[in-house]
Amino acid sequence: MQLELENKTVLVTGASRGIGRDIAAAFAGAGALVYSGCRSKESFDELAAANLNPVMLDVTSQPDFAGVIQSIVQKHGRLDVLVNNAGVASNTPASSLKPEEVDRLIDTNFKGVFYGMQAYYKAQRKSGGIIVNVASILGLVGTPLASVYCGTKGAVVQMTRALAVEWANSGFRVNAVAPGFIDTDMTEVMKKRDSILTAVLNNIPVKRMGTPRDIAGPVLFLASSLADYMTGHILVVDGGLTAQ
Ligand SMILES: NC(=O)c1ccc[n+]([C@@H]2O[C@H](COP(=O)([O-])OP(=O)(O)OC[C@H]3O[C@@H](n4cnc5c(N)ncnc54)[C@H](OP(=O)(O)O)[C@@H]3O)[C@@H](O)[C@H]2O)c1
Repeated sequence: MQLELENKTVLVTGASRGIGRDIAAAFAGAGALVYSGCRSKESFDELAAANLNPVMLDVTSQPDFAGVIQSIVQKHGRLDVLVNNAGVASNTPASSLKPEEVDRLIDTNFKGVFYGMQAYYKAQRKSGGIIVNVASILGLVGTPLASVYCGTKGAVVQMTRALAVEWANSGFRVNAVAPGFIDTDMTEVMKKRDSILTAVLNNIPVKRMGTPRDIAGPVLFLASSLADYMTGHILVVDGGLTAQ
């Protein structure tokens, strides 16, 4: 049994660094033609140097997202896989969250994912497609200092399920991965504080944080023909954290 991702066209959002970067590299390694979404000229040049086919895409712009998907579909005939990975976090007590921060979280993590899925569906409603969203275990369980982040990731989980059901007849599979604590810039704040890091690690059954590569594999699996009968599934990848 093979992944069968050779020559598939794939768009990964937020591929400049962290989990998205490894997802893009893993698809490229599997022979896919990957488009790596990024927001800055620096990231664009870096991705180009790594042969990861950069495309400028800020997911908070609905017209830009639709435009990028349409141009890939026009060029290649179809976009085989959309990976909605771009996301932002915050580490603030709910009582101190400012409206701008709430908007940033909702615009990126919630609306950015929805508008991407909507544009993809509209571009390929006749031929179907494969969507893999990057949710979080914080869309399934609660934690302090992440109220709106948890809310947006819970929304990603539920949109994944809802659209898997709504679009199944149109040939779309919609799944998500729910990573636990992964070693990227997003978890920098936590890693800087020894006491917090130790407490988190102690609570993870496998006793280590995940790496971006730990997430890339399950994303490729969900995007591949090996997962042809899976839709509406949330694949938890957390070293056993939420199994307890
Ligand atoms: N790290 C974890 O422990 C963890 C756990 C569960 C889920 N996740 C999820 O995994 C995904 C990737 O996170 P990460 O850990 O790799 O974080 P990261 O290292 O901070 O990377 C975030 C990525 O998202 C991009 N991005 C942010 N806002 C964007 C926007 N408006 N438009 C386009 N791209 C945007 C960033 O681009 P720039 O470089 O331009 O800023 C960057 O490429 C997120 O959805 C996150 O919520 C992470």
